[in-house]
Amino acid sequence: MHINDSNVIAGLGRLGVEYKPGVSMAERTSLEIGGTSDLLIIHNHESLPELVHLLKSAGVPYRFLGGGSNVLLPDGELPWAILQLARRDPDIRMEGNSVWADCAADLGRMVTTCAKQNLGGMEGLIGVPGTVGGALRMNAGAYGTQIGTFVREVRVFRGAAGRLETLRGPEINFEYRHTSFAPDDIMLSVRLELPSKPYSEILQGIRICNDNRRSSQPLNQKSAGCIFKNPPGGSAGRMIDELGLKGYSIGGARVSDRHANFFVNADHATAADMLALINDVRRRVRERYGVELEEEVIIWKET
Ligand code: EPU
Repeated sequence: MHINDSNVIAGLGRLGVEYKPGVSMAERTSLEIGGTSDLLIIHNHESLPELVHLLKSAGVPYRFLGGGSNVLLPDGELPWAILQLARRDPDIRMEGNSVWADCAADLGRMVTTCAKQNLGGMEGLIGVPGTVGGALRMNAGAYGTQIGTFVREVRVFRGAAGRLETLRGPEINFEYRHTSFAPDDIMLSVRLELPSKPYSEILQGIRICNDNRRSSQPLNQKSAGCIFKNPPGGSAGRMIDELGLKGYSIGGARVSDRHANFFVNADHATAADMLALINDVRRRVRERYGVELEEEVIIWKET
């Protein structure tokens, strides 16, 4: 999407929104897949209601992109302007057992920053790539930890109502890789409550999780983490592996040799390659096991 309405561009300047035309989104996603679009970087959360009003009145469709580590974007010129939150400094603040984090903050850095203040509980999340906001949206989890457990308050821009709200923890439903946030909600900041734990103990937990992850996941390849959610009581990775699909590829998209639920961009994969691989593997699992796998990766469709 190329914004060519000069009123909109002037409005962006007035709201302090940084305007970057024609940005390659492949550079902003961990799969390194995605076409180009105008990128709007939000420095002041309070500007969101007016920004969205401006875009909607001018008929400019938009989508919000977090850290780009769990999404599959289409190729070519994207039909939306892309909104992203600027990283602010400081983006993490602590007081007692409470932590306030900006949603643009890096999740791993939040875990280690809190650890240094003897605040633990999130060790399992250490190798999960992406931002705090992205982790919140999908209730990211690993090694028995899910971020939702610690959430006490979330500042959010509600897309449908067009306004900013603060939600209390109990008002949000956190399930396995799913939350009650609406698709057009934009998470801005969060307050977490973390248990006190000695730094050395947290560090030990972090090391164990890192070792486990390194031994079972393709960390140095371009991926979006696990492609499918695990079905109740089952393992998507084990089923795909049992089908002998490790290394199976369509175009440049390949099922990882290391972990079968990671699909990697092995050689200039397009979104079409990745989608074809996802659908093909899903069909094979359905035919063999009678299980319909649901994607964990968020696929942006041009509808
Ligand atoms: N397995 C295989 N072959 C494979 C992969 C896995 O046989 O290629 C087997 C393993 O041997 C194990 C079982 O499947 O017996 C489960 O595998 P693993 O321990 O790797 O966990 P997972 O269920 O595949 C989940 C999360 C990961 C998270 C790990 C560690 C989902 C979809 N995945 O993976 O999260 O890091 O547990 O807690 O819930 C993600 O969400 O993107 C992600 C990577």
